[in-house]
Amino acid sequence: MRALIYKSFETGYNLTLNVLLMKIPIRYITIVVGILLLTFLIITINLAFILPKADPPPDIVIELTEERIEYGRYLANHVMLCMDCHAVRDFSLFGGPPIPESIGAGGERFGREMGLPGEFVTPNMTTAALGDWTDGEIFRAIVSGVSKEGKALFPLMPYPHYSQLDGSVFI
Ligand code: HEC
Repeated sequence: MRALIYKSFETGYNLTLNVLLMKIPIRYITIVVGILLLTFLIITINLAFILPKADPPPDIVIELTEERIEYGRYLANHVMLCMDCHAVRDFSLFGGPPIPESIGAGGERFGREMGLPGEFVTPNMTTAALGDWTDGEIFRAIVSGVSKEGKALFPLMPYPHYSQLDGSVFI
């Protein structure tokens, strides 16, 4: 047993020595490094340019009936609390209510002092900003955190929570 252990140490030692002394032909090393580099390149190109970054937005159109608009208002102000973030809050008042003129226009700042990795200002989500978004793109942003251009939204926008809901509550 002991002899076996010595033997395996010896083999390992010899192997290391061979590499250190460059006894392994340089072309083998080049081939291995080349294969590793190529694999790295293929994966990077795939991730950066070839693989789709997000699913396409669903093809939905939400009818703008008075009832649906009222339902959306109820969700945005009282259930999903979109307007608590997408508005500037007046913290000089109890509970920091959103300033009425800013509701939907965004502008609230969330900074590093809250433990975030940077500074975030909630974007405008009135029709002035989202007017050219399709209903499907807005839906995708709410439940998947993907912007119109296909970029990821920072999860301060609570899509990880909204995605837990049955999507039909939004449409
Ligand atoms: C906790 C705060 C918060 C709440 C609640 C919230 N959002 Fe957001 N939302 C954000 C932030 C912050 C961003 C910007 C994220 C980024 O820039 O990566 C954002 C981004 C968005 C965007 C993308 C806008 C753009 O121009 O790219 C849309 C659309 C949006 N929110 C809609 C909603 C809707 C609808 C609701 C409610 C169902 C909601 N948000 C609730 C904080 C919030």
